[in-house]
Amino acid sequence: MKHLTSIHELSHDELQEILRLSKEIKAYPQRFRGALAGKTLAMIFQKPSTRTRVSFQVGIEQLGGSGFSLGQNELQLGRGETIEDTARVLSRYVNGIMARVFSHDDIIKLATHATVPVINGLSDLLHPCQGICDYFTMQERFGDLRGLKVTYVGDGNNVAHSLAYGAAKLGAHLVISTPGGKYLPNETVIATARKDAEATGATIELVTDPVQAVSGAKVVYTDVWTSMGQEEESKQRRKDLAAYQVNGALFAKAAKDAIFMHCLPAHRGEEVTNEVADHARSVIFDQAENRMHTQKAEMVLLMG
Ligand code: CP
Ligand code: NVA
Repeated sequence: MKHLTSIHELSHDELQEILRLSKEIKAYPQRFRGALAGKTLAMIFQKPSTRTRVSFQVGIEQLGGSGFSLGQNELQLGRGETIEDTARVLSRYVNGIMARVFSHDDIIKLATHATVPVINGLSDLLHPCQGICDYFTMQERFGDLRGLKVTYVGDGNNVAHSLAYGAAKLGAHLVISTPGGKYLPNETVIATARKDAEATGATIELVTDPVQAVSGAKVVYTDVWTSMGQEEESKQRRKDLAAYQVNGALFAKAAKDAIFMHCLPAHRGEEVTNEVADHARSVIFDQAENRMHTQKAEMVLLMG
């Protein structure tokens, strides 16, 4: 494993190894105290972040290494230095680069030109660290992921795409429910995930009716209706996605032991009500915590 740009790029064994190591690191963090001693992670943020920033920073420190964040305007990138040269230069100083970018193309350019591992900390297309953390969290709850019915409700965005790639590699039964049109997930991502799914028996279904989609699901997942960079569309999105709110009535259609998941940040009262976000079967904060454990595993495997 050279980089972590997309779950699709991971082999089945690599993904299983990340999940296995995450479990070990979470259970025995002290065993890994020196795993990345002397190693440095540079973190580039073109967009805001709470979880990704803090979980990577604390994670690398717990592994004995160090990390620092760079905002877009703190780098010469903001004044026109190319992403390619930024990748080449940072590679001379640090042992790994984590980047949160607008265009997924920037992740590809970083990975192509860096000589150190590059981790995608969210792009407009994908959020692989989130997807890995999400399946780790489901595994903690349900064990085997094969055949597990996971329903994602709302906007077919970066988080939905990484859930699709993860389902395909792990054999889950993913249903994505959107109003259609521009809210549908990316066609190429879904086609690629369905191809990957042939090896595992996974299924990726696109469904319009949220009630039908959630029926019998073990996991009900949603994300914000307006992703970072789409703020101008927020009014229209609230209107178009209103019927896709995960509220008590919709959550009640899922399996009796279903869990609620959200990558956070949540816009309570929009895509999810307080009743569901704070439900006894909501695992949103376990999920947030697990970002750190799974990313520690990713860093150990990539930078160790
Ligand atoms: N879920 C997630 O990536 O959160 P942040 O935007 O706070 O990093
Ligand atoms: N879809 C959201 C995820 C935030 C973690 C966004 O891109 O803003």
